[in-house]
Amino acid sequence: MRVITVVGARPQFIKLAPLSIELKKRDIEEIVIHSGQHYDYKMSEQFLEELLINKPKYNLNVGSGSHAMQTSKMLVPFEELFLKLNPEIIFVFGDTNTTLAASLAASKINIPVAHIESGLRSFNRKMPEEINRILTDHISNWCLAPTKTALCNLFNENLKNVSFLVGDIMLDSLLLFKQKANFEQIAKKYNIEKNKYYLATIHRAENTDNIERIKNILIAFSKLNDKIVFPLHPRSLNIINQNSLWSLIGENVNIIEPCSYIELLGLLENSKYVMTDSGGVQKESYLLKVPCITLREETEWLETVDLGCNVIVNPNFPFNITDIVNNNFMNKKFENIFGDGNASGNICDRVFGNEYLKNN
Ligand code: UD1
Repeated sequence: MRVITVVGARPQFIKLAPLSIELKKRDIEEIVIHSGQHYDYKMSEQFLEELLINKPKYNLNVGSGSHAMQTSKMLVPFEELFLKLNPEIIFVFGDTNTTLAASLAASKINIPVAHIESGLRSFNRKMPEEINRILTDHISNWCLAPTKTALCNLFNENLKNVSFLVGDIMLDSLLLFKQKANFEQIAKKYNIEKNKYYLATIHRAENTDNIERIKNILIAFSKLNDKIVFPLHPRSLNIINQNSLWSLIGENVNIIEPCSYIELLGLLENSKYVMTDSGGVQKESYLLKVPCITLREETEWLETVDLGCNVIVNPNFPFNITDIVNNNFMNKKFENIFGDGNASGNICDRVFGNEYLKNN
């Protein structure tokens, strides 16, 4: 049996790793296609090297562009490759333009689509990711939900027949790679001490493309007494350069290049607090029991907020990080909401079915 897995952006390489291992265990042939949506070494190749996954056999080299340009540039090459390779199933991950383009191309030529990390909703249709998620879910044959909330969202959209709770594949990845992080080395590299710094990541269009918001964020970071380690996404770097915002960045803020997954896990696990607009980092901070400030107007990971471990802060308004920290997190509870760390196994059981397993 042959399947295709489609990746293109940084978080997808992380989610692919445990699935590739599971497919290998089951003797299922996997061909990896990279859309090329992320192309800088630090955003792409470094992950493929570090996570030891199958190297992509094809790269569409789509690069940067508007949403329409990026999505449309992928459609024809995806269709051509799917027709040529004739897989039984394609796997897509998350909510990127790559996810939508691959699932659209496959579903129109009747190749079944399995969507991993399905059912997430921010209920904010101004986010490109929200459009990508909704459309992908509605053309997928398997909607593989990481949490009960995600499953409920799918049920509410009449997708009950194709929706399954499998747990979160990022927990599988975290369990696979966490122990490889060497904090002693990381601490030396960035001159930090355990629990004495914040980790920050900002990349979403709604924060970076709105100059007032990015300014508010940078000013709030600089007012903090503690150190901040801030791996900078290329989108945020461009915006800071184009708008000459370097003067807003205080001495306590250590801007670093996008770091590897294993280094990020080390930085995250040993930080005092995390500040982010990333879906993945919110979840990883929860799994590593580090309180999180989410710099957005909403989150897809409502459970982490309900359990007192994540606070939503609207970057439209100037904010004081010390106040936020002092007034929250008193009753935080890190419960098991992301499954048992075997999402990749559950996904394969669902998609290939028990009959398939018995015969192989
Ligand atoms: C994309 C996803 C988002 C995901 C994120 C992870 C969409 C709509 N968004 O956002 O869901 O959370 O990836 O990082 O698909 N750039 C580079 N080098 C790179 C990659 C990007 O310089 O390797 C710059 C380009 O200027 C590009 C900008 O970053 O225009 C944004 O990249 P893009 O792929 O459009 O989206 P992300 O913000 O990375």
